[in-house]
Amino acid sequence: MSRADDFEQQGFLVLPDFVPAASCKALKARAEELVAGFHPESISIFTTHEQTRTSDEYFLSSGDQIRFFFEEGAFRPDGSLRQAKELSINKIGHALHDLDPLFDRFSRAPGLAALASELGMSQPLLLQSMYIFKQPHIGGEVNSHQDSTFLYTDPPTCLGLWFALEDATLENGCLWALPGGHTLGLKKRFVRAPGGGTTFRVLDPTPLPEEGFVPLEVRQGTLVVLHGLLPHKSGANTSSKSRHAYAVHLIDGSATYPQDNWLHRSPAMPLRGF
Ligand code: FE2
Repeated sequence: MSRADDFEQQGFLVLPDFVPAASCKALKARAEELVAGFHPESISIFTTHEQTRTSDEYFLSSGDQIRFFFEEGAFRPDGSLRQAKELSINKIGHALHDLDPLFDRFSRAPGLAALASELGMSQPLLLQSMYIFKQPHIGGEVNSHQDSTFLYTDPPTCLGLWFALEDATLENGCLWALPGGHTLGLKKRFVRAPGGGTTFRVLDPTPLPEEGFVPLEVRQGTLVVLHGLLPHKSGANTSSKSRHAYAVHLIDGSATYPQDNWLHRSPAMPLRGF
């Protein structure tokens, strides 16, 4: 069966050895440098008492920035970090692929352009990128969701490229996917609320199934391709090993990108393809 047929049936693909170990290592080193250069005490969200409003704003305006998001529970009640900054960050997002030369090159590798076209994208655009740490012991669980909820186009065209920069196992919180679940339709959209902040708009109140998910335990260098409508999740990291991953999400330029999507970009930084 071709990759495209397999993807159409399952809603995901697991492609081992897609990325050489040296590239995984280079991305990890670059993420480490970015974190070293990040000084949370210089950013008001991490020092203010108005946590909700400022953290919303820090998140909502991150679509064309490189920003740092902490694990829940990274802080003590007095606002100080419980452990080193390097071990407290949940992810970096959301425009590494446009602003950092190394992530830019990696995200626009020729093999990815070929894959996007093979899977039916006519005008692929790189919408967002995330470096995900899934830290030892505190890396939190990610509940079942569809990426198109957060990265919606009309019609839905989101395609996720998830690169294992380290081995992902049951112990350190690998992905779980629901085979064939991309045919269930989109359940909700995450939108900007008219009064500020964000909200979920329900499109179909039928809940996503809770059963039938399969774990995707993969080796370093594996690319997992996720259909935007495929329900997936990941467990908490209960181990002493981190589970670093890098994810890029594409949308098709032929679809409409609604203005009430949470992710906005400056007109000076239009979306680019490969
Ligand atoms: Fe996701």
